[in-house]
Amino acid sequence: MNICCIGAGYVGGPTMAMIAHKCPDIRVNVVDINAARIAAWNSDELPVYEPGLLEIVKGARGRNLFFSTDVDGGIVGADLIFMCLPTPTKSYGEGAGSAADMTYIEISARRIAELAKGNKIIVEKSTVPVRTAETIRRILDAPGSGATFQVLSNPEFLAEGTAVADLENPDRVLIGAEQTPEGQKALQTLVDIYARWVPRDNIITTRLWSSELSKLTANAFLAQRISSINAMSAVCEASGADVQEVARAIGKDKRIGPYFLHASVGFGGSCFQKDVLNLVYLCEAFNLPEVAEYWRQVVKMNDYQRRRFARKVLHKLFSTVSGKRIAVFGFAFKRDTNDTRESSAIYICRDLLEERAKLAIYDPKVEAAQIFKDLGRKEGDASIEICADQYEAAANADAVLILTEWEQFRSKNMDYAKVYELMRKPAFLFDGRNLTDLSQMRAIGFNAEGIGKGL
Ligand code: NAD
Ligand code: UGA
Repeated sequence: MNICCIGAGYVGGPTMAMIAHKCPDIRVNVVDINAARIAAWNSDELPVYEPGLLEIVKGARGRNLFFSTDVDGGIVGADLIFMCLPTPTKSYGEGAGSAADMTYIEISARRIAELAKGNKIIVEKSTVPVRTAETIRRILDAPGSGATFQVLSNPEFLAEGTAVADLENPDRVLIGAEQTPEGQKALQTLVDIYARWVPRDNIITTRLWSSELSKLTANAFLAQRISSINAMSAVCEASGADVQEVARAIGKDKRIGPYFLHASVGFGGSCFQKDVLNLVYLCEAFNLPEVAEYWRQVVKMNDYQRRRFARKVLHKLFSTVSGKRIAVFGFAFKRDTNDTRESSAIYICRDLLEERAKLAIYDPKVEAAQIFKDLGRKEGDASIEICADQYEAAANADAVLILTEWEQFRSKNMDYAKVYELMRKPAFLFDGRNLTDLSQMRAIGFNAEGIGKGL
């Protein structure tokens, strides 16, 4: 069997590497129009930083895993085609700011329709609005197409930073298919691939629309949990409670569970905001304004949390950060990734730059050029210094901001006394991830603040 994956991004690359790793008899071609990205996949400097990924890629690359810019060749030679294309929030026209931009999916579907021959299974891996499979089918079935197609929905649930573990041992694999004999046959083909390493009970099969909607629902529920605990963090700060104690207490209830209850500077990443807004737009389109507003609040709460943090920094620093050096620990949207898409650090840094602060930023994996791009500044801008480590960033700073939950920023893994020594006094520490022991930080001499730490 030949598999082609269109889109060698954060999902396409790791997912296909895992299929190639687990199924050495299947040839997997990953194709992308971005030549630099493909070159990186063919090197030892992968474009995506994921613990354990390089080993898996190196084991399969050149054997049954190939990365190429030959998109057309990939389509022609494949029995099964995964579409791992971007579906960002639309920035123009109808639905701007909430609807998903389906341009990339449509362009690829049209190319498949033009080139494909025989029977092909098309797998929608991207996160898409409900009934996108129907749109893809209409494009594929347009007159003149030389092939027959089955469209499956197979949303991806991996989280960045843990992609390899999530792919190797997923909570579930979800596949939606049409309820026709051909649809069910295509479904079985994909089930058989995953069943090589995923227990059959963890492979859930549904109708197409249920599968598409389940992905949006999962992300909406996860994002909602973070917004809920972040909302409580504001109440904790106002009332003198401690959000970590509250999270531990409620998480013991089996019906609530302990995961995804870390109060933070807000969720980032390319998907939570986009997918919740996508759901909001769908609800509006289905004329369900109350449901739309309910979910929109999840995103509003996230915006509030980011802004609240930046405002707190400003006010604690005597209401001015103009000309002050602020050390930023972490810029990625979460730990163990080099991805900065929608990172809360971007919003907080922008707010502080607006107040004319000078930022000294350190992140173990994010490249300097990416940081300048995200902050909308030219490289060399005097307001931003990219530092080689935490201590360089802290030197002469008035405040340290911890914005990403990298393990190395935990108080047990870092010399915060040294950080304090290097700083201008009074020295402030704003722990946006609750990685440090605040009483220990205060004993060192910091004016230390956490998230949702009332005292
Ligand atoms: P990405 O931007 O990292 O990768 C998409 C790739 O598609 C890019 O490399 C781009 O060059 C390529 N591309 C665009 N148009 C193309 C074309 N016409 N032909 C060939 N290649 C083309 O995106 P991603 O993070 O991998 O996300 C892809 C989809 O998966 C999105 O719908 C996203 O919502 C969903 N998803 C992402 C994650 C995640 O952790 N990032 C997890 C689950 C689901
Ligand atoms: C998320 C989901 O967890 C995946 O299941 C999904 O496949 C993916 O989105 C997607 O569709 O793209 P991801 O965004 O990679 O994965 O990472 P998460 O671990 O979910 O973290 C998202 C953000 O929430 C990060 O900024 C993280 O720091 C933050 N977060 C997470 C919190 O602030 N508190 C928490 O308790 C958990």
